[in-house]
Amino acid sequence: MTLKEQIYIRKSCRKYLDGEIDMNQIHDFMKTVKPLNSQINYSYEILTLDEVKNHARFSAPYYLALFTDNRENYVDMGFIFQQLCLYLQSIGIGTCWVGLASPKKKNSDFVISIAFGKSDDMTREKSKFKRKTLSKISDFEDKRLVPAQLAPSSINSQPWYFKHTSDGFDVYRAKHNIIKRRFIKKWNLIDIGIALSHLYVTNEDSFEYEIKTDFEDIRGYIYVASIKI
Ligand SMILES: Cc1cc2nc3c(=O)[nH]c(=O)nc-3n(C[C@H](O)[C@H](O)[C@H](O)COP(=O)(O)O)c2cc1C
Repeated sequence: MTLKEQIYIRKSCRKYLDGEIDMNQIHDFMKTVKPLNSQINYSYEILTLDEVKNHARFSAPYYLALFTDNRENYVDMGFIFQQLCLYLQSIGIGTCWVGLASPKKKNSDFVISIAFGKSDDMTREKSKFKRKTLSKISDFEDKRLVPAQLAPSSINSQPWYFKHTSDGFDVYRAKHNIIKRRFIKKWNLIDIGIALSHLYVTNEDSFEYEIKTDFEDIRGYIYVASIKI
């Protein structure tokens, strides 16, 4: 199955099987991954469960710990590593982004972890996705946004909003109240990157990304970037 097909059947995997994984599959895929900004500095490490401080309600045999030196790269981190998650799912490896797991070895560039491992419980029917309607995530309903609608997000917050422009969309993220903001922190930028990666994977040839200086302010939202698909 292609990466594109995974979008419509994927779910966050929280049940893993034992089993070795050829980590070269990850390293090889990462050589082909598309970033939004080719200049960004980032890295990842593969850790085993005993190398991770895990506060999530489930555990996995392996974790990817993601690192970058600049908060401005968080959208890109979601964009890059969701492509890897779709790839892993296509080869029988389940994944779950985990805000509540971090490497035991401290590193100030640490951003977030992704749990992964072999699994037989990482798909579902499209009707089982719990998501906002298309008309809630855009100024008008547009079926081209279904891949973004189905994207995973921290606590399923789905913070994205797409405003049509003459040739694409301006993309916004929801402003949260102070309590939620503290909890969701940086994850919300990662969520936007994940949704954009689903739009990239489904529109590989036409996808374009830019950060504009002129955009409309929308109450309750913060402008992130603009895309063509
Ligand atoms: C940035 C981010 C952080 C997340 N953190 C956690 C977590 O700490 N624990 C957990 O069980 N799920 C976590 N998730 C998974 C979400 O809960 C899940 O994506 C969402 O509920 C939608 O469900 P689905 O991915 O199965 O479609 C996280 C997802 C994202 C994108």
